[in-house]
Amino acid sequence: MNLLTRDIILTGFMGTGKTVVGRKLAELLNRVFIDTDNEVEGLAHKSVASIFAEQGEAAFRRQETDAIKGLNRYPLGSLVIATGGGAVLREENYRFFRERGVIILLTASADEIFRRVGHTDRPLLKSGDARKRVGELLQEREPTYRKTAHISVDTEGKTPEEVAREIMTLPYFTRNEPPLQG
Ligand code: S3P
Repeated sequence: MNLLTRDIILTGFMGTGKTVVGRKLAELLNRVFIDTDNEVEGLAHKSVASIFAEQGEAAFRRQETDAIKGLNRYPLGSLVIATGGGAVLREENYRFFRERGVIILLTASADEIFRRVGHTDRPLLKSGDARKRVGELLQEREPTYRKTAHISVDTEGKTPEEVAREIMTLPYFTRNEPPLQG
């Protein structure tokens, strides 16, 4: 597999920088940038926060899968995709992403994630103690994030541009086509 002909899919918890890194990476590689949350919002004509509040998480997940499947309208290898933090938890989404390209997991510690998103309007962090919720959700999701990704990149203490440039040094960008892990 070669990244020149495949999409780049960024996964990971809220606040790991999928959107900012993805946007930078798309700019550097001259590709179309897609944020799956924006795709959902565009189809629903509502914010993610409103969908959660008015229709609940299950409805959001259905709309998220529809939005992801809709990405097939783009030619393979033309996209950098930033996924919503829960997208790869659904097997059909993760299989879709695997078909399209290389899944890169972005990571950061729970403390750093809380600093980045603890005070935003993320629906899943709204009720109760947000720092505790980050820790619990991260621990619960970690095995799935690891299992579904081909490779991971730590974002702690790095700027989005540094992370994007680090991704561009991964062996998948060469023509040697090394075997993918997992
Ligand atoms: C979610 C993450 C959010 C958004 C929704 C659910 C999650 O995206 O899709 O609030 O389940 O982790 P970001 O990871 O871009 O914040």
